Amino acid sequence: MKIAVMTSGGDAPGMNAAVRAVIRTAHYYCDEAFVVKEGYRGLVEGKIERAGRFSDCINHGGTLLKTSRLPEFQRDDIQQIAANNLRELGIDNLVVIGGDGSYRGAKGLCRWGINCMCVPGTIDNDIASSDYTIGFDTALDTILQAVDRLRDTSSSHQRCTLVEVMGRRCGDLAIYAGICSGAELVITNETGFDKQFVLDEMKKARLRGKQHAIIIITEGVTDSTQLAKDISEYSGFGCRATILGHVQRGGAPTGNDRILASQLGSYAVDLIHEGRKNRAVGKVDNKLVNYDISDALEMEPKMSELYELIKKLG
Ligand code: ADP
Ligand code: F6P
Repeated sequence: MKIAVMTSGGDAPGMNAAVRAVIRTAHYYCDEAFVVKEGYRGLVEGKIERAGRFSDCINHGGTLLKTSRLPEFQRDDIQQIAANNLRELGIDNLVVIGGDGSYRGAKGLCRWGINCMCVPGTIDNDIASSDYTIGFDTALDTILQAVDRLRDTSSSHQRCTLVEVMGRRCGDLAIYAGICSGAELVITNETGFDKQFVLDEMKKARLRGKQHAIIIITEGVTDSTQLAKDISEYSGFGCRATILGHVQRGGAPTGNDRILASQLGSYAVDLIHEGRKNRAVGKVDNKLVNYDISDALEMEPKMSELYELIKKLG
């Protein structure tokens, strides 16, 4: 068989471990393995090469295959060019490691006869067909290191610190980081945002004599810098906003991410060998699972039980 692998969308720590697992499992089955460079853009431009062993990479963050965002990939004619580029090399199986946008791209490619396997690689943890996505665990650790440092200065100045984390439309990074860092409040799209409630809570905390406070907020919910100013003015707590940004996407993957990536990358190739078509792989309740890509995309976002826990602990 000929199997190609690519990374797409926002990079995530552990993507290299997943690529390595795909290549090595393909070699285990005596398949020919290929890599696509630079995501869907590279696929359309024909940047497809025979894969080596992909050594010395399991510990690297980012994606050594590079990635891209190509909005034009929604177009049929562009998808057809990509499919033809694969077929010209005799490749009809493609493993796509990325987030939900990348899954949609893969769903499009399937229509042009390419058998696509989707592997969840994104720090956002917004793929409902897997309990965790590759990169989430590492990003969470990165956030915690930052919040622990912020706590030192926040405490010294008796301030409130508002930390904005990534997640796009998913609040899991904020919720998990909130619990792990002992935050007073977590604000995500799922929890909802009531500005007056936040202001009142911080005022009450100040009156109770709290020396410092941490609020974690998901990007895009509101203007964090403005919210910090409003908290300062209203509550008596001097508040500073820290927008963590892309630092959250970098760094060596944690052990958990390396294991998840290795399992899911390898499983995608196993499924190809079982004759399965157009599947999205994941790990649910500690078991490897697979779904039709379209079904995976339609699954309701999972609401972690941690959303309830935060109400009790905050
Ligand atoms: P992620 O995969 O991390 O969610 P994006 O949303 O940027 O990241 O998606 C990655 C790429 O997948 C996009 O740049 C685009 O090339 C492709 N893609 C996204 N949505 C679609 C879609 N509806 N149809 C086809 N391709 C898509
Ligand atoms: O999807 C991963 C992610 O890091 C989101 O959390 C974030 O909103 C987005 O990508 C940022 O994308 P870019 O790298 O294009 O700024």
